[in-house]
Amino acid sequence: MARSPAKDHTTDKIFPDGFLWGAATAAHQIEGSPLADGAGPSIWTRFAHTPGMTLNGDTGDVACDHYRRWKDDVKLMRELGLRAYRFSVSWSRILPEGTGRVNQAGIDFYSQLVDELLANDIEPLLTLYHWDMPAALDDRGGWLNRECADWFAEYGRVLYRALDGRVKKWVTLNEPWVVTDGGYLHGALAPGHRSKYEAPIATHNLMRAHGAAVQAYRAEGKHEIGLVVNIEPKYAASESSADKAAVERAHAYMNGQYLDPALLGHYPDELKEIFGDAWPEWPAEDYALIKQPLDFIGINYYTRSVTKANDSYPLNAGAVKQALGTYTETGWEVFPQGLTDLLLWAKERYGNLPTYITENGAAFFDPPVADTDSSGARRIRDPLRMDYLRKHIGAIHDAIQAGCDIRGYMVWSLLDNLEWSLGYSKRFGIVHVNYDSQQRTPKDSARWYSRVIATHGRSLADPLP
Ligand code: BGC
Repeated sequence: MARSPAKDHTTDKIFPDGFLWGAATAAHQIEGSPLADGAGPSIWTRFAHTPGMTLNGDTGDVACDHYRRWKDDVKLMRELGLRAYRFSVSWSRILPEGTGRVNQAGIDFYSQLVDELLANDIEPLLTLYHWDMPAALDDRGGWLNRECADWFAEYGRVLYRALDGRVKKWVTLNEPWVVTDGGYLHGALAPGHRSKYEAPIATHNLMRAHGAAVQAYRAEGKHEIGLVVNIEPKYAASESSADKAAVERAHAYMNGQYLDPALLGHYPDELKEIFGDAWPEWPAEDYALIKQPLDFIGINYYTRSVTKANDSYPLNAGAVKQALGTYTETGWEVFPQGLTDLLLWAKERYGNLPTYITENGAAFFDPPVADTDSSGARRIRDPLRMDYLRKHIGAIHDAIQAGCDIRGYMVWSLLDNLEWSLGYSKRFGIVHVNYDSQQRTPKDSARWYSRVIATHGRSLADPLP
């Protein structure tokens, strides 16, 4: 991927009118009470309750207790000045068996959340699927069953009918790459399968489900719908032809595997090379279902990868650590310029689609309990996160200056939360959560971000506090 020249981020930043500043979360990571009020179990409830699957056996049973504290959490968003909030809906709260019977209490939960957001002038961005498939559907084969496209469209329709009058931005899937790579190829995430033969099928069915949910939206909904992908620029570790070929494979696997079919109507050729006999031929009508006009794309960006050819399965490519790099607590290199490069690449390849940065953020060490400063106020000092956010927002501004149609930015995450199989060990929030008391404390990064929002980006030019 071409590198753009590094920029000076100290100049005045002005973002386009209507630029949406917000923060993101996901149902299973914050809500807790996964079985409350008639909800069915999801694959994450099962996975986390299987010994050895998550760090320290952590589960989402309590998480941030947002299911009961949602009103206070919206108040907090208001105090921080957020203009948008991206959250996901738990499918098995709405349809406990995944299809068929609707659980009204589940709809009511999200309906009151949406009302509260709107009453506080916060625009809701709703994601239908952030990794928590109803367990009942996993029993029927989950994403390996072609019927999942119908199941997902049915679920979408229930929510469109209930909420489209108030929710104007919808997302079908969050990060299908992670669903497949973590859930079906390497097994570190629910449902924990490890199969080179299943992964391409899961990918394809996820994309069919995405297409079916967009089609259903066009019939029922009046606003906007898009897809969220996590993409990561790949740079060659050396000039060798082996490393350059490794970059092409890694790039196709992560960055092209989902956007290409959704926007261009075909998969990158490299996938056949990577998966060999495990990569099936699909019927032509599937591609027509998958490629639906989208109103926007969402991009989640965390890091880059400097890629080298190696014998890792099945890509024969892997990331090499940079001697001079700065790394977050999840071992990801801080590389803001990669976000500009990526946005320019997406514009070039797919056209200048309206784009939201739907996740960006970092886990750094923050203590489990907040300090108290001399005035007695609770405080979490997180200068590394502030620096990370500032540089990445600057990188987005660079992309806007270069002509990319970027419409908003959502920090990952509003709250410290359940980092999937890493449990509560990694804190990504701009708001600290004390998991014993459930007390929320805005970190220094939250106060800083509030000012960025209030000044519409001008304060990015100020030195960090
Ligand atoms: C996911 C989040 C996750 C975050 C940090 C994204 O891949 O959408 O659910 O917590 O990255 O790992």
